[in-house]
Amino acid sequence: MHDSNGATTSLWQDIQPPISANGQQAPDMTVDVCIVGAGISGLSVAYMLSQAGKKVVVLDDDPIGGTMTSRTTAHLFSALDDRFYKLERLFGETGSQLAAESHTRAIDKIEEIVLHENIDCEFKRVDGYLFSHTTQDSHELDKELEAAQRAGFTDAQKVDFPPQQPQLGPAICFPRQGQFQPLAYVAGLAKAIQAKGGLLYDGTHVSKVQDDASEPYVETSHGSTIKASQIVIATNSPMHSAEFSIKQAQYMTYAIGLRIPPESYLPTLYWDTAHNYHYIRCASSKQGHDDILIVGGEDHKVGHDTNTDEHFAALEQWTRQHFPFVQEKVYEWSGEVIEPMDALGYIGLTPRQKSVYMITADSGHGMTHATIGGLLITDLILGRENPWAELYDPSRRTLHPQSIGSMLKEDITANLAYADYLTPASIKSPDELSNGQGAIMQDGLRKIAVYKDEQGEVHKCSAVCTHWKGLVRWNDAEKTWDCPVHGSRFNACGKLIQGPANKDLDPVE
Ligand SMILES: Cc1cc2nc3c(=O)[nH]c(=O)nc-3n(C[C@H](O)[C@H](O)[C@H](O)COP(=O)(O)OP(=O)(O)OC[C@H]3O[C@@H](n4cnc5c(N)ncnc54)[C@H](O)[C@@H]3O)c2cc1C
Ligand code: FES
Repeated sequence: MHDSNGATTSLWQDIQPPISANGQQAPDMTVDVCIVGAGISGLSVAYMLSQAGKKVVVLDDDPIGGTMTSRTTAHLFSALDDRFYKLERLFGETGSQLAAESHTRAIDKIEEIVLHENIDCEFKRVDGYLFSHTTQDSHELDKELEAAQRAGFTDAQKVDFPPQQPQLGPAICFPRQGQFQPLAYVAGLAKAIQAKGGLLYDGTHVSKVQDDASEPYVETSHGSTIKASQIVIATNSPMHSAEFSIKQAQYMTYAIGLRIPPESYLPTLYWDTAHNYHYIRCASSKQGHDDILIVGGEDHKVGHDTNTDEHFAALEQWTRQHFPFVQEKVYEWSGEVIEPMDALGYIGLTPRQKSVYMITADSGHGMTHATIGGLLITDLILGRENPWAELYDPSRRTLHPQSIGSMLKEDITANLAYADYLTPASIKSPDELSNGQGAIMQDGLRKIAVYKDEQGEVHKCSAVCTHWKGLVRWNDAEKTWDCPVHGSRFNACGKLIQGPANKDLDPVE
């Protein structure tokens, strides 16, 4: 599959054939619902609306499923990693129960869709184990077990160690979690949407979203206008509402895939209690045999760590300590996850808008969050009651001191990155770069993002992020320009990968 969002390749990008759209450059049209973003979120919404009889179009400037959905590790968790005792603090016991119920329902819904549409995506029900990263301190596990049981996980229980993995020590077992091959699932959704008359366009960039009570529309950068009764922004990072640049934080996360011998690993999800936690599953590089162990972690704020290659090395070292049977490393990739200020994502009507819905900030639970988004936005558009509407409402005010504190901390760290304007650029001439390298160059008063490609050709663009004028930084692992302020990312030649920016970096002579 064509990959425009980084230099590395995920297991799924390696094995999944491209997913067909109906065309590129969507023409003028009028539909019931226009969905921007053809990742798992946009396609889940489009699938459920088309099943309900709505005429939908999905627009994306990248290949279908080709952005963060192609870089996930696709654990299907209802046992949320933000801890149920923290959710209780933020949303009360009822809120914690609704969060657990919604993600549990999402895994059930994915299973239903896989069966109904006959999608060959290696969907499996697996147990999930939360283990303590220190192996000595199991107090955290006890506290979480009690809160998880109050949230509705009555069958969760503590074990001395997970089956076959005594080295991990005490853990909480959460039965009936799940895993699948995400791009195969997305391909199945795309086919089912098209079978119901829905249209998918890749190569279509949405440059403007207009909320209007009588006739909402989007404009594309090639000049067409798509009118719709409702618009859904499923672009992972929303580009149509400034307040979400402040209410959420963008993190890079890393994953590696290592070969494992047959029968060495029972299909299971693991994650630990470390602050920068590790997440683990197995998958098959060929259908039917689980021959790859995937391990993720090493999260850091986008653009705030330029030694990106070191994170793959650290993950590998951790994996060899905890799963000593692993063999050679065959995959490494990274991507971005979006953390809301208060642990739960935003799904619903955009604040102060009448017809533009949004789905964002899945906190690393994008697979189930997307499915909740499909269920909830469909209910909202069809005027049906939904018990989760208030919990995920993008207009909610979370006044808990913990979430206000974390939002302030994130925003201060983000704004400190503007100090890059005062620091000297790292090179004076492209001659200082090796092939395949990028760096910021001073050009009079301007700062230029310079990339020398593998053939030695030099590409230059402005280093000023097209969102709110942060200065981008070079990400050597992915060969991308990453903005440390709100996490927009651009490829080595300045093409937009990830918002909230909605324009490429400006070209320079
Ligand atoms: C390494 C890694 C591991 C992860 N592990 C897990 C996991 O185990 N479980 C889990 O649930 N989640 C996980 N996640 C998170 C999950 O992958 C993502 O949150 C999820 O894929 C987001 O899906 P999405 O559809 O919202 O966004 P995307 O897949 O990014 O799709 C958004 C789409 O919108 C398009 N777009 C943006 N702006 C425009 C525009 N202006 N015009 C047209 N198109 C536009 C983009 O091109 C893109 O295709 C992980 C993420 C990473 C990176
Ligand atoms: S992402 Fe906001 S300034 Fe770059």
